[in-house]
Amino acid sequence: MAEPVPEYEERSYAVARAGVPSHIAIIMDGNGRWAKKRSLPRVAGHHEGMKTVRKVTKLASHLGVNVLTLYAFSTENWKRPKMEVDFLMRLPEEFLSTFLPELIEENVRVEMMGYHQNLPSHTIEAIRKAKEATKNNTGLVLNFALNYGSRAEIVDAVKDIAAQVAAGTLNIADITEEHITEGLMTRRLPEPDLLIRTSGEVRLSNFMLWQLAYTEFWFTETLWPDFGEEALLDAIENYQKRNRRFGGLKGEEAN
Ligand code: FPP
Repeated sequence: MAEPVPEYEERSYAVARAGVPSHIAIIMDGNGRWAKKRSLPRVAGHHEGMKTVRKVTKLASHLGVNVLTLYAFSTENWKRPKMEVDFLMRLPEEFLSTFLPELIEENVRVEMMGYHQNLPSHTIEAIRKAKEATKNNTGLVLNFALNYGSRAEIVDAVKDIAAQVAAGTLNIADITEEHITEGLMTRRLPEPDLLIRTSGEVRLSNFMLWQLAYTEFWFTETLWPDFGEEALLDAIENYQKRNRRFGGLKGEEAN
């Protein structure tokens, strides 16, 4: 029997026609509170959050989004209890072993940005396999930010530039924004057009500080495990009403 057409389908056609953000970045927050509300262990919230990752990836792919970056683990998240960290490190494996065939069918290409250092080998191996299996896919890039920290990334870019100056291959006067941009883990990706953070927290938590300079922000009270297709469409519809000026003037104002 054919699957019933989901209610959001019609709405998503209209959203796709109106032009979707090329790159959406998401700070997936509120898993712990979702679990607490149900008297469940925090990790149950992370597990439920994984199901949201599937829904959001699928819809983003159908809408024609080019890149979806998901903040799955920050360089600061190591401060959490070991049991929770261990659980989070198993999630990419579970997600990819369950949904890789679906991602391949969707023409999704899996990517990762973050420091390999300190990540367990089973986590790295799961991502490596998924990257390999999807490397020729030409649709949505699903970019997991895993053991990612923006300040550390910027420091690395600066060290790179300093090394070039020390080697005499770059003059200080010739350093431009592009030198930093090129030194970041996102060098092959467009800058995010839309940043979403769930759960009512209104901060960036060391996420893509350089790349978000002209990004539109959408904060929602919805906890990540409750965030679904309708919630993603709400965010994109709101984005479509924004007047992006990139520091200049647009339309009437420019005359
Ligand atoms: C923040 O919520 C969430 C995280 C640190 C982990 C995010 C990870 C997932 C949503 C699953 C990722 C799935 C894959 C496939 C990698 P929190 O625990 O800080 O929530 P709280 O603020 O309510 O405590």
